[in-house]
Amino acid sequence: MTTTVRDPQKDSSSLTRRRLLQAAGGITFLAFILTESGAYAAMAQDTTATEAKALPLFTALPYIQSGPGSSKLVDGQESLVIAWQTNGVPATFALEYGIASRTESKATLTQKSRKGDKAAEGDQRINHAATLSGLKLNTRYQYRVRMNDSTLLEGYFTTRKPRGVKTRFVAFGDNSYGEISDRAIAYQAYRARPDFVMNTGDNVYEGGLDNEYARYFFPVYNADTAGQRTGAPLLRSVPFYSVIANHDVRGKDAMKRPVADFDKEPDSLAYYTNLYLPLNGLDPTQKTPTVGAADRLADFSDCAAGRFPRMANYSFDYADAHFLCLDSNVYVDPTDTALQTWIAADLDGTDAPWKFVVFHHPAFNVGHDHYTAQHMRVLSPLFEKHGVDVCLHGHEHTYQRTRPIKFAPGDTSGASNVNGKNRLVPGTFTIDRKFDGHTATKPDGILYIVTGAGGNHLYDPESNNNPAQWLHPEDNNADYVSRFISDRHSLTVFDMDKSALTMTQIDEWGNTVDRIRITKA
Ligand SMILES: [Fe+2]
Repeated sequence: MTTTVRDPQKDSSSLTRRRLLQAAGGITFLAFILTESGAYAAMAQDTTATEAKALPLFTALPYIQSGPGSSKLVDGQESLVIAWQTNGVPATFALEYGIASRTESKATLTQKSRKGDKAAEGDQRINHAATLSGLKLNTRYQYRVRMNDSTLLEGYFTTRKPRGVKTRFVAFGDNSYGEISDRAIAYQAYRARPDFVMNTGDNVYEGGLDNEYARYFFPVYNADTAGQRTGAPLLRSVPFYSVIANHDVRGKDAMKRPVADFDKEPDSLAYYTNLYLPLNGLDPTQKTPTVGAADRLADFSDCAAGRFPRMANYSFDYADAHFLCLDSNVYVDPTDTALQTWIAADLDGTDAPWKFVVFHHPAFNVGHDHYTAQHMRVLSPLFEKHGVDVCLHGHEHTYQRTRPIKFAPGDTSGASNVNGKNRLVPGTFTIDRKFDGHTATKPDGILYIVTGAGGNHLYDPESNNNPAQWLHPEDNNADYVSRFISDRHSLTVFDMDKSALTMTQIDEWGNTVDRIRITKA
């Protein structure tokens, strides 16, 4: 019998398939059927119902990742990963791609099994990753995914832009909590038509588990239709970068220190198994602690395939910007010499006009929940010396923008107080009060942006547009914060070329709530 070919994009009232394909990317489903459970079954043409039961069920539809080898922008040496996930039913997959036709090249495929959260009941899934290499920059490629010699879907993507090409990206964090606001922010991010997403951490609650990615992340950010209450097909359209954060590590040891406990949560640390990000960081000595039975740790390690722990720190270029992404979790000591040496070399190793540093725990934040987690402040002089323009953070579920600041740390013992509650780093502020982002656009110092209002419940309602709440005696009441919005969820949209950067904060309904322009000259 011939199976029904269903195109959920075509069924959508909020976004037609034509409009979806005009967007940054898209997928045309050719041989899928939506099951009663909401998951897609891959069904080849002329598949009988009996045969269909032996075919894989897709637990995550294809999504685009930067891949491990993509830090510098070199035409013809670009690479990219297209990943998807199925249940444990085996099948033979292939991914073919090309510029003029979908069949010019074959991607290298890996399949890694991973135990699910109900591992004892045989819960298992397979993570499929297709690596496409030798790509040109800023070029649109077509691809198709085949299973057992039948084409399941066709799609396309555009590779990274080189220097000198205008680029837009969006940033948000503290999302994937199963909230309707997650979906609204995903939709607004998609409406912005970004070239990529830069997530600022706490990407998946409550504990960064694989089953939480399956429930809260993939269905929302890789939704089949775009809508305010649906989410959007972001992940299948553009690369999604993230940083590891506190909610990626769920467990605690006897001393209440964070640890990924694979005995309690066999699907822990899914950041390292679901994401495929650059592997150009240093091998961290202060990596996420892990405990658990040897076979579970081996299962994780095999699925992560070299990404743990290296993917905690990495960097990449996109058009006129360089991005340095760091692990700021409480087990990290940012005074570590090896870490600082690597950071300096990384920031000096790019000729990008703009330099961003992204880490979850904000160095400068005047909210009340995580004010004392100031350990990353100790890196500010290094960032200033090596030309950083903007730092992006989450952790506080608010939007906060500092004035341009320079910071000279005093007592740095708090920065070294690994796993401690008090990580205060007092010091001296030099604040650029002339910069307003409108008539005065050249900052003298670094702008620190908290964009952590990406979906989870908001913090500090009393601080919304209320400067009296933004002062802390531990900082000698320095007025380094310029904007604080906590009455709504929001995301940040960056538009950049080599000489100017425009930063626009958009709320969950699409309204602009803040905008500044930053220039080099
Ligand atoms: Fe956090």
